[in-house]
Amino acid sequence: YKKMVKICCIGAGYVGGPTMAVIALKCPDVEVAVVDISVPRITAWNSDQLPIYEPGLDDVVKQCRGKNLFFSTDVEKHVCEADIVFVSVNTPTKTRGLGAGKAADLTYWESAARMIADVSKSDKIVVEKSTVPVKTAEAIEKILMHNSKGINFQILSNPEFLAEGTAIQDLFKPDRVLIGGRETPGGQKAIKALKDVYAHWVPEENIITTNLWSAELSKLAANAFLAQRISSVNAMSALCEATGANVSQVSYAVGKDTRIGAKFLNASVGFGGSCFQKDILNLVYICECNGLPEVAEYWKQVIKINDYQKTRFVNRVVASMFNTVSNKKIAILGFAFKKDTGDTRETPAIDVCKGLLGDKALLSIYDPQVTEDQIQRDLSMKKFDWDHPLHLQPMSPTTVKQVGVVWDAYAATKDAHGVCILTEWDEFKTLDFQRIYDNMQKPAFVFDGRNVVDSDKLREIGFIVYSIGKPLDAWLKDMPALV
Ligand code: NAI
Repeated sequence: YKKMVKICCIGAGYVGGPTMAVIALKCPDVEVAVVDISVPRITAWNSDQLPIYEPGLDDVVKQCRGKNLFFSTDVEKHVCEADIVFVSVNTPTKTRGLGAGKAADLTYWESAARMIADVSKSDKIVVEKSTVPVKTAEAIEKILMHNSKGINFQILSNPEFLAEGTAIQDLFKPDRVLIGGRETPGGQKAIKALKDVYAHWVPEENIITTNLWSAELSKLAANAFLAQRISSVNAMSALCEATGANVSQVSYAVGKDTRIGAKFLNASVGFGGSCFQKDILNLVYICECNGLPEVAEYWKQVIKINDYQKTRFVNRVVASMFNTVSNKKIAILGFAFKKDTGDTRETPAIDVCKGLLGDKALLSIYDPQVTEDQIQRDLSMKKFDWDHPLHLQPMSPTTVKQVGVVWDAYAATKDAHGVCILTEWDEFKTLDFQRIYDNMQKPAFVFDGRNVVDSDKLREIGFIVYSIGKPLDAWLKDMPALV
């Protein structure tokens, strides 16, 4: 019997930081160390300016930091001391070699596993927190066993279901906690140990235990289903525009069916975020490797519709502005992949901006949480490069000259020909659109990629308005786009 359980988490990112902070808060009898190879990230976690923006996070960190929550770059020391090691490093899509553009790149995972094997002097439970391909635990087990010097490692899969923007809420009251482990006595004992941690605040009936492969695959499946809902409603949005149906009304009517449910049915310019595309590509790759091309094709379509939705949006913008945006100022309101986060990974704004830049537009971008550096980096980066730790690479020297970043929606829209709303930040709903209209070129366009503005009100002011999946203005009907 040990007095205090020690937990170490490798990877102090969007998942590692918030999950460990909440464990520390809810388990005063557990000591939690979050470690990372990135010095700036750890420095930020130890400062007043946390490296990620997440409502409620500051408060949780302040309550525990220095008591039972520690952030450190001394990876080996904390791994060595821990009873339970969470691994929540990034698992990007491979950019080269076998499976490039699809398969998960497990380089970071493998190096973490080898390091754990190297420095361990006592038995440990190693927990997959990152989203990994099904069967990864087997590979990790092999690495640990072959290097273990007689130490006993138990592998668990404990995928994280939090959503950015609501991470703290999600962690406080998870729909479920999923723990997968080996069906051996040792495996069951490890499951019990991790369950005891979550049982500090999660009701027993919400903690699901399964075998390893079910747990790993459930995370990929959950993300695929979620993304599929968005692609389904977005596919409908195109048909709505063509027929005069209103996608909000359709979503509402469809979502009232309790078998379908009302959540996550908003049409938009497309889904983003670090996970959906990466995890579906990974799922597709796994299906192909297992000789299931039909299943692979099925899930691939979710991504194709998402790409189509972004292209469609750009085409609408360009077509309605007389088929050219060359040298026109376009205001971009919102760059993060959704509201209440500063995260821009795979945000649809990147593809939309690149599309408009391709047509020689001049962009003026405003997002309440994203820095200019980040935006410039995102717009000059190649596809799939984003998740290979940027903070470990030198800053890209090229800034995109057609892009300006400003700190205010009014500055962004001043003298603009058009406004594209790409993130559903609450503050965009209460902007003074009369003021914006007065300061814009005419005709003045608003392209609402998130259906946040009241299009009727804006039309009264004089704007030409495009809202995804809503009946089209006479203007837009007269400007047929390739959509
Ligand atoms: P992230 O990129 O924010 O954080 C990963 C961290 O791991 C980085 O700070 C990196 O420096 C560090 N790292 C990489 N290799 C390391 C090593 N060998 N030793 C120490 N540190 C190392 O990634 P994020 O968003 O936290 O995601 C992590 C995993 O969780 C991914 O597999 C992702 O798919 C999954 N996930 C992400 C969710 C999200 O909303 N972001 C939600 C659920 C799961």
